[in-house]
Amino acid sequence: MSQSSQHEEPQRNPLRESRFEPYEVNRPIPVFVLAVAFALVAWGAWTLWSNSGDNVADTAAVSVTGDQVAVDPDEALLSAGAALFEANCATCHQMNGSGVSNAIPPLVDSRYVTGPADAPVQILLHGIDGPMAVRGNPYNGRMATFGDTLGDHEIAAVVSYIRGAWGNAAEPVDASFVAEQRARFDSDRGPWSGGAELETVTGIPARLTSTTAMEASP
Ligand code: HEC
Repeated sequence: MSQSSQHEEPQRNPLRESRFEPYEVNRPIPVFVLAVAFALVAWGAWTLWSNSGDNVADTAAVSVTGDQVAVDPDEALLSAGAALFEANCATCHQMNGSGVSNAIPPLVDSRYVTGPADAPVQILLHGIDGPMAVRGNPYNGRMATFGDTLGDHEIAAVVSYIRGAWGNAAEPVDASFVAEQRARFDSDRGPWSGGAELETVTGIPARLTSTTAMEASP
């Protein structure tokens, strides 16, 4: 009994195991672990990065009214606004705010953007659907409301951004201003019916050209 086991085991097993097992068992595990670790790190970094976007918006909104935050509040507000613009507006109004000729009005140098701040806020809160003139050109398209999808802080950020981008030089607005504007009208009142109705709310003269005036009324 003890003789037969002593003859077979010491000679066969150590040789086989030392040759094959380290290669077959150990190699695949580190690669797999590394892949999982890399995926976790990448996911963690992405999560941090995407959460930091919300924090920037919150920080900006908080520090517009209070002032305990070290970050420049205007800068944080504008970078949040730029991201919101890219996500919600740029497909139509274009990244440079130029619009699309005969279809989408420009935001650059538009009195609805750089004039009284209630105009861009009311346009975003309720949408617009009717004839209007921007920089002398008539438009009669439709823009949906953002009042349901964007909160007061987000509307403040994106309106502040378009009032200051591309050479526009109007003052930013804060979330409490948007909240006041939101309280002025029913949230489901429907879109503004064009420049003429906006004039009654914002005081911005509609200045409809003869073309759009003909479209507006018989
Ligand atoms: C689906 C396309 C579309 C999207 C997206 C869109 N708009 Fe508009 N926007 C329009 C159209 C069309 C008009 C003109 C409506 C009309 O003629 O009655 C307009 C008008 C405006 C006006 C008033 C006219 C002017 O040029 O100054 C402002 C301000 C404005 N949009 C801002 C924004 C902002 C800010 C966003 C993003 C939060 C946005 N829009 C998203 C299509 C769009």
